[in-house]
Amino acid sequence: MIKVSAVSKYFQGKKVLDNINTEFFPGKCNLIIGKSGSGKTVLLRTIAGLYQPEEGFVSYDDRILANMSREQKIDVRKDIGFIFQEGALFDSMTVEENIMFPLRMFSSMKRKARAERVNYCLERVNLKGINKMFPSQLSGGMRKRVAIARAISARPKYLFCDEPNSGLDPQTSILIDNLIMDITKEFNMTTIVNTHDMNSVMEIGDNIIFIYEGKLHWQGDKHNVLESDNKELNDFIFCSALTKKIKER
Ligand SMILES: Nc1ncnc2c1ncn2[C@@H]1O[C@H](COP(=O)(O)OP(=O)(O)OP(=O)(O)O)[C@@H](O)[C@H]1O
Ligand SMILES: [Mg+2]
Repeated sequence: MIKVSAVSKYFQGKKVLDNINTEFFPGKCNLIIGKSGSGKTVLLRTIAGLYQPEEGFVSYDDRILANMSREQKIDVRKDIGFIFQEGALFDSMTVEENIMFPLRMFSSMKRKARAERVNYCLERVNLKGINKMFPSQLSGGMRKRVAIARAISARPKYLFCDEPNSGLDPQTSILIDNLIMDITKEFNMTTIVNTHDMNSVMEIGDNIIFIYEGKLHWQGDKHNVLESDNKELNDFIFCSALTKKIKER
């Protein structure tokens, strides 16, 4: 289990995360929701150890990240598959080389085993046979799926996805969400997804935290997210004509 304890993070003296306390569970899609600029990416990067919190700490299975030795930190890093908000596939590498990258970095797998793993991951994201294509030759949705394939190639225990649906149509977004949910359950991963997509919230929100201006305002799941009496959460959810109609029913 990943635990965030009294975490605060500052940039240039401005408090961007303010005393966040929460837990993220294995086998579940844990969602961090909140409007643009609320601190979702900073929180996810802090959980992954890419940013150090000025106050509080992050722990993995009761081991505090900041207190770990260099080797222990590398071990945790190996267990993390990260899908960055910007996508971040290597444009000069083929799809296959992209997916092999974590295997080359973190495993002693032989060439043949690596090739088999690439094919398995591509099949898992429904992109069999595109091994030799370059990212520039793919659609946005295909690139996201390759990013997922790359993130899971080294069999991570933790899957962190920062806005996996950004720039995708609603139907493709649902496919990506379902894929993330399926692999989370199948491999019992602790998945954390940053999103402001209400479809994702209602589809895959096993555990949801809502942050507003760097503070945790509400925690719950997809079954009770529409019934909260938190004003900021309701303003966030019921801002579109469609969700307003749902509320009026
Ligand atoms: N490296 C940085 N240096 C300075 N300020 C930063 C840095 N990264 C983020 N911030 C600030 O932290 C705040 C939270 O940013 P963050 O990227 O976490 O928002 P977000 O919730 O992910 O938004 P979005 O939905 O647009 O991705 C913003 O005010 C942002 O300007
Ligand atoms: Mg972000």
